[in-house]
Amino acid sequence: KIIILDFGSQYTQLIARRVRELNVYCEIHPFNNPPAIGADVKGVILSGSPYSVHQEDAPAFDFSHVHGSLPLLGVCYGAQYMASHSGGTVTPSEIREYGRANLQFVDDTNPLFSNIQSNSQVWMSHGDTISELPSNFSIIASTNHVRVAAYQVDGTQTYGIQFHPEVTHSMDGRTLLENFLVNICKCSQDWTPDAFVEETVSTLKKELGNDHVILALSGGVDSSVAAVLLHQAIGERLHCVFVDNGLLRKNEFEQVLDSYKHMGLNIKGVDAKERFYKQLEGVKDPERKRKIIGGMFIDVFDDAAHEVDSQLADGETVKWLGQGTIYPDVIESISVNGPSATIKSHHNVGGLPDFMKLKVVEPLKTLFKDEVRRVGKALNMDPSILGRHPFPGPGLAIRILGDITAEKVRILQEADAIYIRNLKESGWYDQVWQAGAIFLPVQSVGVMGDERTYEHVICLRAVGSTDGMTADWIHLPYELLSKISNEIINHVKGINRVVYDISSKPPATIEWE
Ligand code: XMP
Repeated sequence: KIIILDFGSQYTQLIARRVRELNVYCEIHPFNNPPAIGADVKGVILSGSPYSVHQEDAPAFDFSHVHGSLPLLGVCYGAQYMASHSGGTVTPSEIREYGRANLQFVDDTNPLFSNIQSNSQVWMSHGDTISELPSNFSIIASTNHVRVAAYQVDGTQTYGIQFHPEVTHSMDGRTLLENFLVNICKCSQDWTPDAFVEETVSTLKKELGNDHVILALSGGVDSSVAAVLLHQAIGERLHCVFVDNGLLRKNEFEQVLDSYKHMGLNIKGVDAKERFYKQLEGVKDPERKRKIIGGMFIDVFDDAAHEVDSQLADGETVKWLGQGTIYPDVIESISVNGPSATIKSHHNVGGLPDFMKLKVVEPLKTLFKDEVRRVGKALNMDPSILGRHPFPGPGLAIRILGDITAEKVRILQEADAIYIRNLKESGWYDQVWQAGAIFLPVQSVGVMGDERTYEHVICLRAVGSTDGMTADWIHLPYELLSKISNEIINHVKGINRVVYDISSKPPATIEWE
């Protein structure tokens, strides 16, 4: 594997994705908490950083134990840091270099640059530049403005590059990373979805033995793929629970339950609609809704876990809690305000529900979302599950502004179903990252036939995004919006007006609550 040390660059995760796209497994670690370098580590990459090496609090890292013994590639800050800490000089650039540049000189005999055009376009993003290299460093690429665009430490496998190979605007960036991984680190490119499945299933078999595992399915991609992997490893000893909180999409509970059963999963559906509605009665505040739903889910799941225990053979109990946690949730990222460790909530152990005292197994915790989808495909899972839009845990509760009633849920489910069906039929569903309808807490005047109406408003939202952190609204065709609006107003009793949300995130958020 490859270790990527994160110095806080916005591009660190992108480096990891590019390495993995080349079928090489890698991990991101914070620079100030590097992992032990075992025999399985084939090379180390140092990321960029928002810091300048001249800042007093600039991130520092002792690379002496890697330099010389393992291939080492410094990107941007990583390159500047190694140069300046080996006796070179880094100075503020006369012009801050952002964006496109073309290589002018390339040492094409260097293994890092094999098959790279001498005038290749690269992407720069830096305020400092390496003005002088230590005497044992050699320039291996330059641009018009940047003499030291890339260097090698003589006689070692330590490299530095000033540009960003991980962004798609660096035309030969992928080739450069592949050169580093294959020519220099000697990685074999065998980390594929199939290999991941095979290795994970065999590790799970060993780790879990004859133990029983319980897992809450949500209908989403992550928990579904996690379930299928666990099922391949331990079969019927995986006990899945799918809770109907009354806040799912129309018919979702039945459909999803059915497709899970088809997949051979040992699954139990729990209809807890009324319990949720009762607790939510009259509650308007979004954060309180979230807390109530979270708390109620724990109660319902705890009951289900006890029920599973009671059905096991004498003396047997469930030992593990399976979860669909994915990599972005566990990466310890470095923020500009200083390293931020993963926040762990410290529960009062005595007060925990029983299932939370279980050991946790998270088969997807090293994967990015798109990798989870690819693993799902390797497992022959239904594309309709793998291609699903993200859906918030609190479900329609945070898409009904104000208090929740069964009637409002019904209205929103009907409108949402019309919207999503039209997106699918028109081919837009797969081009949208997330879409949904929102029930607004206003009524407005309308006229239907000869009658005046005073009914509710449905808002449609569709956004493009890669991770939900930023998003932009999708320019759905007017004809499609018009068709959806007509259908909703004509078929959903209680709605006489439909609007479309044209706000980006930031400053708006994807959900309205
Ligand atoms: P926002 O509204 O913050 O949403 O732009 C970003 C992404 O997170 C989802 N979301 C949630 N998911 N529990 C969840 O499991 C929540 O309370 C929650 N709130 C927002 C939202 O659907 C979007 O994908």
